[in-house]
Amino acid sequence: MILEAVNINTFYGSVQALYDVNFSIAANEITSVIGANGAGKSTLMKSVMGIVKPKSGHIAFNGKELTAMVPHHIVSAGIVYVPEGREIFPKLSVRVNLEMGAFGKKYSKQELNRKFEEMYALFPILKERQKQMADSLSGGEQQMLAIARGLMSDPKLIMFDEPSLGLAPVVVDELFDIIQNINKEKGIPIVLVEQNAYMALSISDTCHVLENGVVTMYGRSSDLMNDDKVRSAYLGG
Ligand SMILES: Nc1ncnc2c1ncn2[C@@H]1O[C@H](COP(=O)(O)OP(=O)(O)O)[C@@H](O)[C@H]1O
Ligand SMILES: [Mg+2]
Repeated sequence: MILEAVNINTFYGSVQALYDVNFSIAANEITSVIGANGAGKSTLMKSVMGIVKPKSGHIAFNGKELTAMVPHHIVSAGIVYVPEGREIFPKLSVRVNLEMGAFGKKYSKQELNRKFEEMYALFPILKERQKQMADSLSGGEQQMLAIARGLMSDPKLIMFDEPSLGLAPVVVDELFDIIQNINKEKGIPIVLVEQNAYMALSISDTCHVLENGVVTMYGRSSDLMNDDKVRSAYLGG
């Protein structure tokens, strides 16, 4: 396992959001986290990133304990979190947004240019739009920018929080192709948090089902796709 979280309990004040959550991802795989609104999916991501500190439990990344680390050290360790709502810089250009993703990497000019070219090859639309302000992009393009920005730092693990939110179905298809591609071509393990359970199960290798702060199921996505409980609760029967 590249990341392994064991018995995570996370609170907001006195309100508990995660209960003894176990969560793991193997090298090279895509794991999904599905669950209703409010189930604790984002809290789990924030617990990994140290944005919300779990009250108890352990999280190991490549064998290194994360729970004692501050968020920017967790980022430096190679984990990128693309949060819900994307959080790009609306009044900066596409290119500058991308450059921000490399902040802290100390790339040479040459390496930085190579990263830009790599992103523009993956997302040709971002090359066309590189001088435009980020807020002039469509929702799907903004999501692509958020993903590309995350990739600029050469992450060892990338976690996407509801990337399909608010996007048209055809754009969602394209986005999920890209996510799969990043995993297959670059070998980057990916955590995919989604309310769109069907899409998430379709492209992931394994899946965690989160209900009211508890992981109620974990297994191969292909098995969960055929599970009666998963079908009735998340796939419309
Ligand atoms: N900043 C916060 N302060 C207090 N409660 C929060 C906060 N963020 C989330 N919660 C609560 O924690 C629970 C899990 O939320 P969240 O992790 O955002 O769920 P999901 O991402 O699955 O929709 C919910 O009951 C939510 O209301
Ligand atoms: Mg969320």
